[in-house]
Amino acid sequence: MIPYSTQTIDNDDIEAVKEVLQSDYLTCGPAVKRFETEVATYTGSRFSVAVNSCTSALHLAMIALGVDSKCTVFVSAVSFVASANCARFLGADVSFVDVDKYTGNMNIDALEQMLIEAKKKNKLPKVVVAVHLSGRAVDLERLYKLKLEYGFYLLEDAAHALGATYRGSMIGSNKYSDITVLSFHPVKIITTAEGGMCLTNNERFYSIIKSYAAHGIVHDKDKLVNKNMPAYYYEMQELGFNYRLSDLQAALGISQLNKIDDFLSKRRAHAKAYPELLKHDLIKCPVPDSQGNESSWHLYQLIVLNDKRDYLFNALRDKGIFVQIHYLPIYRHPYYQSLKNYPPLEGAEYFFSHTISIPLYPNMTKVDQQMVSACILKLADEM
Ligand SMILES: Cc1ncc(COP(=O)(O)O)c(C=O)c1O
Repeated sequence: MIPYSTQTIDNDDIEAVKEVLQSDYLTCGPAVKRFETEVATYTGSRFSVAVNSCTSALHLAMIALGVDSKCTVFVSAVSFVASANCARFLGADVSFVDVDKYTGNMNIDALEQMLIEAKKKNKLPKVVVAVHLSGRAVDLERLYKLKLEYGFYLLEDAAHALGATYRGSMIGSNKYSDITVLSFHPVKIITTAEGGMCLTNNERFYSIIKSYAAHGIVHDKDKLVNKNMPAYYYEMQELGFNYRLSDLQAALGISQLNKIDDFLSKRRAHAKAYPELLKHDLIKCPVPDSQGNESSWHLYQLIVLNDKRDYLFNALRDKGIFVQIHYLPIYRHPYYQSLKNYPPLEGAEYFFSHTISIPLYPNMTKVDQQMVSACILKLADEM
């Protein structure tokens, strides 16, 4: 079986985890702090908080940005459900923004139109969640202009995009946004098994995220409500969660981050090879980024130009090539349909029904890539 993606684990990773297993701290130890510092340095962000998933990171980001049941949050329509669920955890109303039909990234013209309408109704969003789908950067400069004009917070869901660039900056630098979240799930650019991170340049957001990730408990004597208490004393000041990443996971993350350049260059080489291998009238490879931004190539999403995408999907799975579809537009899920009658969005419907994620991961061999491509070409002839 050839998967659409998989983790890359070597002996260094295993040794790094073993070392923590033999140390004093399995959690709440030095590896977490080091991992946070190294990811912040890599992305160019001032602050970082490691947590146990990107879903937790999204939830904490929403809390830090002050989202509540009176707010509206705008979310890119094509993403994993967590990108929108984080707003629902706090009872906010979710509106979905249409996407570009070929990239799946937020259609900024559609967003602008929604903002114009929302302003008329005095219902501007508190937060816009923009997803860098497949690792391709969304147009952050345009988003930033709209953010200034309409006064929303910008949250980058970079679950797919660690290592991607936008106009010379790393995704995660928060040059244009308030908070960026990352995922370290096994199929992502680096892994900690489960894991995620919030990145921000804003000290207040950082403090809130840090506190809510660990029960809302405060140990720092200067920050206690009650002064002159005994050494054992700590206070819970907010209703937080246990969203902590363990040191075992952080050690794996540090070891993985050491190899990120190699992971990215292999992903980019595979992405460069596919268009040469997949020349067919009915198949469109991802369009090159016109601004020269570098994708992290978490996913390689082909576009099937006729209505036979499901045929291709089923036939490839039958041959042991575990292709995947990313994603059903979030508004189509029964939970969201039970909230209100979300209308279908043109770009999201096209992207969902015509794309297919084909295998791409660092250690995919050339032979496998050629075999996958040959299968696709043969099936495309039958479509
Ligand atoms: C775009 C996006 N956001 C958020 C998440 C949630 O990540 P996690 O599984 O780390 O909670 C995912 C997971 O695949 C994702 O693809």
